Amino acid sequence: MIKKGIILAGGMGTRMSPLTKAVNKQLLPIYDKPLIYYPLSILMLAKIRDILIIVNKGQLSQYKKLFINEKNLGIKISFKEQPSPKGLPDAFILGEKFIDNSNVALILGDNFFYGQSLSKLLHNSAKLKHGAKIVLHSVKNPELFGVAKINEKNKKILKIVEKPKKFISNFAITGLYFFDKKVVHFAKKLKPSKRGELEIIDLINQYKKSNKLSAEYIGRGGAWLDTGSISDYYKTSAFVQAVENRQGFKIACLEEIALSNGWINKKNILDAIKFYGNCEYSAYLKKLI
Ligand code: DAU
Repeated sequence: MIKKGIILAGGMGTRMSPLTKAVNKQLLPIYDKPLIYYPLSILMLAKIRDILIIVNKGQLSQYKKLFINEKNLGIKISFKEQPSPKGLPDAFILGEKFIDNSNVALILGDNFFYGQSLSKLLHNSAKLKHGAKIVLHSVKNPELFGVAKINEKNKKILKIVEKPKKFISNFAITGLYFFDKKVVHFAKKLKPSKRGELEIIDLINQYKKSNKLSAEYIGRGGAWLDTGSISDYYKTSAFVQAVENRQGFKIACLEEIALSNGWINKKNILDAIKFYGNCEYSAYLKKLI
């Protein structure tokens, strides 16, 4: 099973300025919790407990304040600063020591996933031993994402392209990836693209070339939402608000996941309540115990 995960939570968040002038984008709220709780919950649902969060240079102290309570989550969080946004594969170069020759998952700090089949998908993906696995979701606007062209019959990945100008398929490559330990070696070999960044598609293509690339699919019952622009951000918040208020369950309550994974106990929940203070999130935690 993959035991290590990286959350790439840097980037300038320029599209969301001035909101992101003083605060990192991944710390802004999606309804009732910081955005980073959502990708972190996905790694925790995949039973990954050893986590590296890569943040912008100068923003480490903001994250440390939020995750001072990591023991209440039953996980180990390490941090690494990214001096400047060099592209997604930079996560594996910066994370080389953390990865330490293991297989590893990567999730982008601004990706939001939700759906009933998700736990099964995560469980399957975390079993990866060799090669790479990407997670695909059909979208209306594929030109905004990395896209995979699939053979409909055998589900083989025929081609992957970053933000294709010409339509090739509706299957967007989401920001959740699973790689074997060769990923650091491949990332180090990459050259910056025309836009001056290391490209995740080039990295995935290294695996595709040797027939070591597979995919999982989030079906119609699952949601993968954008938080890229201010309008997307509010739409995702509204989605969380609608689901949580209807069901009475929280999406991405980290302590709830840790408790159900058997990683923490009642005392940790009480400590977490003390940490958060008198708020609606704490009231929800109280109900768990
Ligand atoms: O969200 C899925 C998409 O993410 C994929 O479909 C694309 O293939 C992939 O390239 C990526 O596209 P984006 O255009 O959304 O990538 P963006 O540059 O916006 O970066 C995504 C997140 O990663 C964002 O929260 C900022 C963070 N980031 C990005 C770069 C380039 C970093 O922390 N460091 C970086 O160097």
